[in-house]
Amino acid sequence: MAGKEELEELVFYVNGKKVAEKNVDPETMLLSYLRENMRLTGTKYGCGGGGCGACTVMVSRYQRPIKSITHFSANACLIPVCQLHEAAVTTVEGIGSTRTRIHPVQERIAKAHGSQCGFCTPGMVMSMYTLLRNKPQPSLEDIREALGGNLCRCTGYRPIIDGCKTFCGASDCCQANGAECCMNGEKGRPELFDRKDLLPFDPTQELIFPPELIMMAESQRQRTQTFRGERITWVNPVTLEELIQLKASHPRAPLVIGNTNIGPDIKFKGALHPVIISPIGVSELCEVTRSPQGVCVGAGCSLSTVRSVLEQLSQDLPREQTEVFRALLQQLGNLGGQQIRNVASLGGNIVSAYPNSDLNPVLAAGQCTLQVTSQGGKREIPLNKDFFVGFGKTSLKPEEIVLSVFIPVSKRGEFVRAFRQAPRKENALATVTSGMRAKFGEGSGEVEELSIYYGGVGPCTVAATRTCRHAIGRPWSEEMLGHAYRLLLDEMPLPPSTSGGKVTFRRALTLSFLFKFNLEMRRELREMSVVLGDEPPGEVCSAMRPLPRELQPCVQEFQEVCGGQPGQDPVGRPIMHRSAVSQATGEALYCDDIPRTQGELFLVVVTSSRAHAKIMQKRRFEQSSGAAGVVDVITAKHIPGRFLNMFGLEEELLAEEEVTCVGQMVCAVAADTKQHAKRGAAAVKITYEDLPDTVFTIEEAIERQSFYEPQREIGRGCVTEAFEKADQVHEGQIRLGGQEHFYMETQSMLVVPSGEEKEMTVYLSTQHPTYAQEAIATTLGIPSNRVSCHVKRVGGAFGGKVTKAVLLACVSAVAAWTTGQAVRCVLERGEDMLMTGARHPVLGKYKVGFMKGGRIVAADVQYYTNAGNTLDESILVIEKILIHLDNAYNVPNLRGRSVACKTHLPSNTAFRGFGVPQGMLVTENMINDVAMVLGRTAEEIREMNMYRQVSLTHFKQEFDPENLLRCWDESAGKRGLAIVPTKYGVGFGESFLNQAAALVHVYTDGSVLVSHGGCEMGQGIHTKMQQVVSRELRIPASLVHITETSTSAVPNTPSAASFGTDANGMAVKDACETLRRRLEPVVSADPKGSWESWIKRAFFQKISLSATGFYRGLDLQMDWAKQEGRLSAYFTYGASCTEVELDCLTGDYRNIRTDIVMDVGRSINPSIDIGQIEGAFTQGLGLYTLEELKFSPSGVLYTRGPAQYKIPAVCDMPLTFNVSLLAGSANPHAIYSSKGIGEPAVFLGSSVFFAIKDAVAGARAEAGLLQPFALDSPATPERTFTACATPFAQMVPETEAGSCQPWAINV
Ligand SMILES: Cc1cc2nc3c(=O)[nH]c(=O)nc-3n(C[C@H](O)[C@H](O)[C@H](O)COP(=O)(O)OP(=O)(O)OC[C@H]3O[C@@H](n4cnc5c(N)ncnc54)[C@H](O)[C@@H]3O)c2cc1C
Ligand code: FES
Ligand code: FES
Repeated sequence: MAGKEELEELVFYVNGKKVAEKNVDPETMLLSYLRENMRLTGTKYGCGGGGCGACTVMVSRYQRPIKSITHFSANACLIPVCQLHEAAVTTVEGIGSTRTRIHPVQERIAKAHGSQCGFCTPGMVMSMYTLLRNKPQPSLEDIREALGGNLCRCTGYRPIIDGCKTFCGASDCCQANGAECCMNGEKGRPELFDRKDLLPFDPTQELIFPPELIMMAESQRQRTQTFRGERITWVNPVTLEELIQLKASHPRAPLVIGNTNIGPDIKFKGALHPVIISPIGVSELCEVTRSPQGVCVGAGCSLSTVRSVLEQLSQDLPREQTEVFRALLQQLGNLGGQQIRNVASLGGNIVSAYPNSDLNPVLAAGQCTLQVTSQGGKREIPLNKDFFVGFGKTSLKPEEIVLSVFIPVSKRGEFVRAFRQAPRKENALATVTSGMRAKFGEGSGEVEELSIYYGGVGPCTVAATRTCRHAIGRPWSEEMLGHAYRLLLDEMPLPPSTSGGKVTFRRALTLSFLFKFNLEMRRELREMSVVLGDEPPGEVCSAMRPLPRELQPCVQEFQEVCGGQPGQDPVGRPIMHRSAVSQATGEALYCDDIPRTQGELFLVVVTSSRAHAKIMQKRRFEQSSGAAGVVDVITAKHIPGRFLNMFGLEEELLAEEEVTCVGQMVCAVAADTKQHAKRGAAAVKITYEDLPDTVFTIEEAIERQSFYEPQREIGRGCVTEAFEKADQVHEGQIRLGGQEHFYMETQSMLVVPSGEEKEMTVYLSTQHPTYAQEAIATTLGIPSNRVSCHVKRVGGAFGGKVTKAVLLACVSAVAAWTTGQAVRCVLERGEDMLMTGARHPVLGKYKVGFMKGGRIVAADVQYYTNAGNTLDESILVIEKILIHLDNAYNVPNLRGRSVACKTHLPSNTAFRGFGVPQGMLVTENMINDVAMVLGRTAEEIREMNMYRQVSLTHFKQEFDPENLLRCWDESAGKRGLAIVPTKYGVGFGESFLNQAAALVHVYTDGSVLVSHGGCEMGQGIHTKMQQVVSRELRIPASLVHITETSTSAVPNTPSAASFGTDANGMAVKDACETLRRRLEPVVSADPKGSWESWIKRAFFQKISLSATGFYRGLDLQMDWAKQEGRLSAYFTYGASCTEVELDCLTGDYRNIRTDIVMDVGRSINPSIDIGQIEGAFTQGLGLYTLEELKFSPSGVLYTRGPAQYKIPAVCDMPLTFNVSLLAGSANPHAIYSSKGIGEPAVFLGSSVFFAIKDAVAGARAEAGLLQPFALDSPATPERTFTACATPFAQMVPETEAGSCQPWAINV
């Protein structure tokens, strides 16, 4: 390597075009190369760590030994460009575009309504496309698996699956509808999309693999390549000898194959490897050899290859020989997503020695061995407890290379099993994982050999040596196991403050897994005709049955438009999202897709590392290298004006003297490139002096009375008197954790100073451009008319892109102002999660009085929300909680009080539902408790206490619950374990926000351009506006174009609170009515004329063809002193019924079925409304059962990416997911009698929570535990398992409160 100065040429293809690079920086990943060097922005950044799939591309390689081409999906964010020599990359742009021809995958996902905000769509498309390249007629299970590594925050996955399902062969039909294939829909029922109107899929028409690459591979002498960058030298050796030599010269250099360990380490932990060796061209590392003793798999084989090798062997060999293979296959089916398995190598997984590696415990228990080589020669080492020596450490010598892994066939009487439990069923590193092997003597139940390995209960894979030793030589019996459980507990101690937490759960899982193994062994021994005296009861054996995972056909019911409606009028029809196709082709532009402008700078924000401290000193750079490329460091002193929050109060934008949370913005580094800005920010040195009295948790805030003002109270009747008269009074509480927005597009903005008259053009991803405009103007001290904000589309927002986007936009604007250059700021996922706050955690305490029959007569609820270090919109959140306190129940004496706790955590903000999903869970939990106390079902108590006729809410707003009851009845008709109703008030409580404006231009060719105040963030507002214009002007929707949301076109409008369509629809309608009025004389003069002819004539008659529209909404307001008012224009109702299956031994559950009935009035667009319902439900499911924000005891957020924070994935979809829009509903308060739907269905996700709770109650009842019990939200496997109170949960001694510092705190 040394002295070689000739520049290497890296040759690869992208979308059929050759790329020859002589000067590639080894630190460049394919994602940034595509986006920045090639301007292929269809491939998206969502996390940068392989966890979200937004960056999925297809990589194809010619395999010389087998002379064939392989295609696999991969995460571009983890593929080093240097590894791509002789590869062909296909991106979403390469398979189809609206300019040429769209690909059937793109078309079908779009037409099936699988694209809302569209940010995940290119990744989904590419995962599915790759599947089709390998299997043109996939099964439903193939599709589920292919999409397992792709996250979507909007859709709830059902429509994506539906679109992809159209590629399945008819043989994959469930036959539930008899001869009629359910994949073609059910006869007579209106369909959301027409399966017959789809482009045919012809697999022979795909892009061919570049012949040049085949020729290169076949004819060229393969030679080592070396690439040198600013900090890293990268070497691609091609022979084993070279590899051995290189490793001897650079023993510390990692061997990078899949880069799924080294890549995230460099990116997230700042690891630096001056030399990297990538041996993917060394054929010996990829060889697979079978022998009668087993199979030898090259260490460089990808996990997908390992999987297919083992699958083949499992088919070919007698079952008794394939025990290890099948156990490994079970782990491989759940390990990472498809994209990870396609690149991650077997050797990499072993040598990375993750504490919770899924393969290592099974390989070790299965007595596998490693063939290792180095300059010192070859050796074989057993993969056992001595191989794993610590966190990420093995007994390999630094210069040693793992050549292959030998996996033996199993012998008669030998059984191997794998177990794992993870925070999410799939694509999540395991909490605890295990491999177990037992060998019994011929015809006997005596244990000859036993090995048990665990991952996740120590710094590395660990063996339960003592437990095994004790069992060997004894018969497999309950007695032996009883002793084994005790020994295991002793052998697997986990200190209470162990990193990752969940200590009790993890320890108990080791026991649960052994119990499951016991059940399996008993079955095997029975099959060997071995008689065991003590059989466990039948119901326990059900613990062996894996939870079901097969997706079933789902039904979406809605009403067709009436027969008389003109065909041209799209209102009420399931029209596809108007940008869905360009989102699916990658042509849709998001903020960071805007091309770089001349001299543009990149901004990285420096945030506080302390929760509460005085800033002693800010030094610009710790090391001089940090200054490379840096243009300026922006501090509070650079702010020319003052930053005002949403409510006009002055707030600190950049901390000057004191910081009040970790993640607070202190200064920002503007540099010529993103890399330089990042390094500059990392090198800024700030010294702090910690201040006392930090407050993180709600309990600490209560103790210190650390509350924001005002506090709120509301009620009716007299609770004190009513409690005295009640038959029973019960007190309880429930806690809900926060929720990260996890919009797929992180906060992004570009501020361009025009250089003239202080004008600033701002492109940003926000829900509220008007507020951004105002705040930037005041921050810069200029009038609003100099700032124009533009939002083309937003890649998901959910409330998180109102205040937080604006704060960042103001800092970026200050940087642009100071430097006079354009400034782009795009947060990394980790920065975004750290800085931008989340949904408010809530503690709800209640006292409820009820009669023996179940009628609730009084309830008193106190809500505490954790607001964080600034007020943000927290008062609105606590108000909205109180307004929805009653949910669907007519409790005559009701009191609610709520406060926002001031803590030293990042300030929490608006999130879909604005506190209502938290508040109503408290109400429902209270009802659940009442049911438990009375020994009745929760549904009985709910039904008995619901509003029955036209009533007044507790704040004296009249409403008719008829549709609420209908939703309840229709959903309750289905079977289920929990049914939950919702009544959600739509509209802004702040009267002035209930307004909207629009601008409609008609051009002389008849085409129409519409601007309105709503931002398109996936909710389909632009599509609905297009429908409104089409109806009002009586023209085809194809003539209507909706342009970006811009403060220059339509000023002074917000977009939130499920109110966008209501308000903007009316404004657009108003503008259209004006135009129609103006056109009336022209139309009357020529009634048979066409739209185009009328427009031409109007133009010549000098009639204005441009109109503004305005909507002045209802005067909604609340008098908090009188505790009455009207806060909502109307209520949206719904009910959801869910059935789950729970595994009490691990806390895992499967959502078997969910049925939702929702009253959306008369839907303007059923596909969009059903999409909103499914998406919101799924977000609710995440909130209540899955998503957990974890903070350290010093207030640092641990969960900063998809690796640690799990949002629902395809595996979390209800297996049957049915949604019905309530028929025959109308709403006089909104456009075309529709209803707002963005937020209300989030709460319906709680039906999953209560179904889990119901299943837990069943498990507890078997143990004689009948009283109400605590289950906080989210009902994670850990909490669910603990609540089940199984013997194993109880065997683990609890850590005494206060005896040690826990790893994480409950905020
Ligand atoms: C999103 C995501 C999800 C994941 N989920 C799971 C999961 O559920 N379960 C699980 O077990 N793992 C999981 N992983 C981990 C993944 O399986 C491992 O990172 C992967 O197997 C490592 O292989 P690699 O080729 O990518 O390693 P690289 O990152 O390329 O290299 C890793 C290390 O292995 C060493 N190494 C590689 N090959 C050899 C060799 N032949 N000889 C000597 N040393 C070698 C390298 O020197 C380096 O130190 C996940 C990873 C990601 C990013
Ligand atoms: S951006 Fe690559 S997986 Fe998330
Ligand atoms: S459509 Fe999937 S993330 Fe928005």
